[in-house]
Amino acid sequence: TKPLRIALAGLGTVGAGVVRLLEANAALIARRAGRGIEIVAISARDRSKDRGVDLSRFEWVDDTTALAAHPDADVVVELVGGSDGPALTLARATLKAGKGFVTANKAMIAHHGLELARAAESAGAALKFEAAVAGGIPVIKGLREGMAANEIARVYGILNGTCNFILSKMEAEGRDFADVLAEAQALGFAESDPTFDIDGVDAAHKLAILASIAFGTQPAFPQVVANGIRHVIAADIAEAAQLGYRIRLLGVAEDGPHGLFQRVHPHLVPVSHPLAHVTGATNAVVAEGNFVGRLLFQGAGAGDGPTASAVVADLIDIARGEFGPAFAMPADSLGEHQAADSGER
Ligand code: HSE
Repeated sequence: TKPLRIALAGLGTVGAGVVRLLEANAALIARRAGRGIEIVAISARDRSKDRGVDLSRFEWVDDTTALAAHPDADVVVELVGGSDGPALTLARATLKAGKGFVTANKAMIAHHGLELARAAESAGAALKFEAAVAGGIPVIKGLREGMAANEIARVYGILNGTCNFILSKMEAEGRDFADVLAEAQALGFAESDPTFDIDGVDAAHKLAILASIAFGTQPAFPQVVANGIRHVIAADIAEAAQLGYRIRLLGVAEDGPHGLFQRVHPHLVPVSHPLAHVTGATNAVVAEGNFVGRLLFQGAGAGDGPTASAVVADLIDIARGEFGPAFAMPADSLGEHQAADSGER
């Protein structure tokens, strides 16, 4: 069988992690996928930077968006970032060319997920974005595949590692927000614009994607109400603790009587709840299904290894030929076979 051939756009921390992972685990990946996965071309802003991986055997392409037309690539992996710009141009061109597209770009999927999913469907191509939400935690797969048979009442969780790091440091050391922020940025998990982290925008991107998977709607980022942790002070955390609570920045999506509710803001979480015990730059997602019950997904929400793990898992799906619609199809597109659910629990 022929290997699955990859063009890789973007060689930051995650891109270098993908190169390293594909090399380190090549044999087991080939066994699991039924064929090898090989990088054929790469593109990044800076050619000369030392990324700690050997890139000499790959073809360098200067124009990132030209990877879409690379004659030897079956799939493009986009790790450039940004909701618009080259990432979106590349996504559109790749799917139009009928090639698979794998991305870690939460902002782009939150803003343009539906358009890209439609392009993927009409081309019969794969669109995968496990790495876009909660880094290494297979939460898209968990909801989309593992919980596929359930009606989901609620999905919520800690979706930003930078904020969780800051809040749990403030909690443990009694320090104030501004004091801990620089430390969080030094960790390398923060967005290039760190206001996206602390104002809840990054968590809102991820929540919009999770909600669309959980509730079969289109990602609707503008409808997410987002408040961050900028105004949380050490005294808030101390007072919450006296009452038996911890403060966590949560994204919550719920299918309520007034439609889909999507919010990101600091919450008081009772110490008896598992999310109160998630500390550091960790993510955790809780999802409630009407047959499976409550599931908790927890782990590293960022970082080169965990995020590369999610990217390559998507590539393995494509190598296996396992992919379907990225988001649930609208009910009216299913015609007469669509039967109403009983709503039974
Ligand atoms: N800035 C993000 C975070 C990175 O802190 O969680 C992962 O999406």
